[in-house]
Formats: sequence, structure tokens, C-alpha cells
Amino acid sequence: TTVEWEAESYDMGGHDTYMHKEISEQPDAVDRVLRGRIDDRFSTVHLGGLNLDAREARTIRRIKILGCGTSYHAGLIGAGLIESLARIPADAEPASEFRYRNPVVDPDTLYVAVSQSGETYDVLAAVQELKRKGARVLGVVNVVGSAIAREADGGMYVHAGPEVCVVSTKCFTNTVVAFALLALHLGRIRDLSVSDGKRIIEGLRKLPEQIQQILESEADIKKLADDYADAKSMMFIGRVRGYPVALEASLKLKEISYIHAEAYPASELKHGPLALIEPALPTVAIVPDDDLLEKNRAALEEIKARSGRILAVAHQEQEKADHTVVVPKNEPELDPILMGIPLQLLAYHTALSLGRDIDKPRNLAKSVTVE
Ligand code: G6P
Repeated sequence: TTVEWEAESYDMGGHDTYMHKEISEQPDAVDRVLRGRIDDRFSTVHLGGLNLDAREARTIRRIKILGCGTSYHAGLIGAGLIESLARIPADAEPASEFRYRNPVVDPDTLYVAVSQSGETYDVLAAVQELKRKGARVLGVVNVVGSAIAREADGGMYVHAGPEVCVVSTKCFTNTVVAFALLALHLGRIRDLSVSDGKRIIEGLRKLPEQIQQILESEADIKKLADDYADAKSMMFIGRVRGYPVALEASLKLKEISYIHAEAYPASELKHGPLALIEPALPTVAIVPDDDLLEKNRAALEEIKARSGRILAVAHQEQEKADHTVVVPKNEPELDPILMGIPLQLLAYHTALSLGRDIDKPRNLAKSVTVE
């Protein structure tokens, strides 16, 4: 791993910003997190550093994922992957909140700390508190040898390579892929079938090329960004797997463009946010071709009926949307990984057209090592 890190150069390699460079590196980064881990013979993956044998893995009753910011959002998608592939109840929570509510620490729960830097104080403090109480903690970390990686009982590196831009892009994607590997591994020890294991492995292998395909539509996304950059506020909606994608896209937009944004489950629109919908408030909707397609379409209709502008990220053109970014289809469990990519570019080009300091947004730091 250290060799790979040194091989990555810190120069911008012809890009205007680190963020653009890091977005563009995602096909290679995803390739790296997969490399050497897939075991076709048993349709599973090898994760050498987990320090968790099959017998122990079978006793896990619950998984609790802790992180901050973008890493927390990656953890939300991770929890969904673990529930669907391994059928272990899982959820994610901001590490800072967890730590201050005197959580019940249960011996049958596996705790997973997520951090790009491996140094975020709130996450580290949560890990230390958990360990003091005798819990088993894994780390899903990017920076090799970092404090959280050292403190955890085991874990996996996400191998995104150095990330310089304050806001996280390639590390977010790689962390979600790492969770897919963890979910597949736990699933195949428990009840995930060989054929489902194969299906996920085939899906994972397709990711780098599909991400590349999305990156090639950058010029179209730039046009959309220029079009939406005059918005004062934006709404992001999605359901189930799409909701954490909406949360992360909304965070990315506010971090670098300073446009106010919020994310809602599409199903919750009618319980409040519909009151905000008008032509001046555009909505970005995550609309995968899955079993919730009709429900998502109904939400678009509700928005259109109130003259809201809609930008959909979908597997096919959406009739109710003003614009659709069509992304390639993978397995439903892995689709959130792909749907996040065009929204990184949307945030990037919106911020660019507003003349923001993209790599160093105001008031933010790459790693927050104090409380
Ligand atoms: C800071 C950064 C965010 C990042 C968060 C967690 O707030 O600005 O981009 O997601 O810390 O960082 P970590 O290194 O723990 O993933």
C-alpha cells in the first residue's frame, strides 16, 4: 500500500483543481479498492485485515457505523449494503452525536469507524470510548497508519490515494465500494447465495468503466450547472438507497458553492418541504430504475404540479423532469455509487461558475482534529 501512495503524485496533473483531479481519478481508485480482494472460487472477497473469523462474523447481531461529514454519508450507504447483502441490522450515526448520548454498548454489535484521514477527533474519541467499554471496532480508513487505523481492532483500507481537496470525492466513492466488499464478505459467510455473490462481483467489476462513462458526460453536466447556478437554494430527494446519495450531493453543493441545499427522503416531501416548492427552488431527484421507480415518479409529479424545476439523475429519461442525467445501470445495490458521480460534477461546476475557491472552501478544514 505505501508503494501505491508514493506513486501517486501531489501535483495537479493538468487539472485546474485538486477536486477535479480527484473526481477524474475515480475509475483507477475503484480499481485499487477491488484489486486482490475478489475470490471468484467462492464468490466472495478476502479482507485480510478485519481480524474477524467466520465463526465470530456469524455471531454479529447488529452493525453500527460511525463517521463525520462525507464519511458519515458513506456509512449510511454502507449500512444499506450490509442490511441487503448480509441481512444484519445496520445503521450509521454521526460519531459526535453517538459519543455524547451515553450509548448502550452491546457485545454482539460490531462497530465500524469511517474516516478518510483517520484523524477526525470525534471519530477517534468514539472509537476510544467503545474500546474502553470492551466493544469490537473496525476501521474503514483511507490514510494508512493513521490514529483510527491504529486504534481499531481491525479493518480495511479504502486505497483512494491521497485526497487534497477539502471536500471528499474519490474517497467517498471508494469507502462505499469498501462497504460493498464488507457486506459481500459478511453476506457470503451468512445467507447470501453463490449466485447473488457472483452478481455483486460482476457489478463491482463493471464500476470503473461505468464511472468513466459518466465522467465523459462532464460537458453536459457543466451546462446544467451553469443553468442552475443562480438558485438560492436547492432540494435533493431520493428514497431508501437514493436518500444518502441525496444527502451527500446536497452537502457537496453547499460546501463548495455556498448555495443552501437540503436533502429529504422523497416520501417525506408531503410532510413539509412541499410548501417550499416553487419555480425558484430547483429539485435534484435520484430516480433509479428499481422497485421504487413509480413512487419516485409520483414525487416528481407532485413537484411539477407546483411548477418546481427538476433535474433527475436516472437510468432513463424522466418525463416530468426538466433535465435528466442518464447514468449506466448496475446492480440495484451498487447503483448509489454511480448516481453520486454526476452530482459531484454538478457541485463542482456550479461552484466554478460562481467563482468559488473550490479546493479550500471558506470556514472548512480537510481534517478536524479538535472537538
Ligand atoms: C471535515 C471535512 C469533510 C470530511 C469530514 C470527515 O469536516 O471537511 O470533508 O467528510 O471532516 O473527515 P474524515 O477524514 O474523518 O473522513
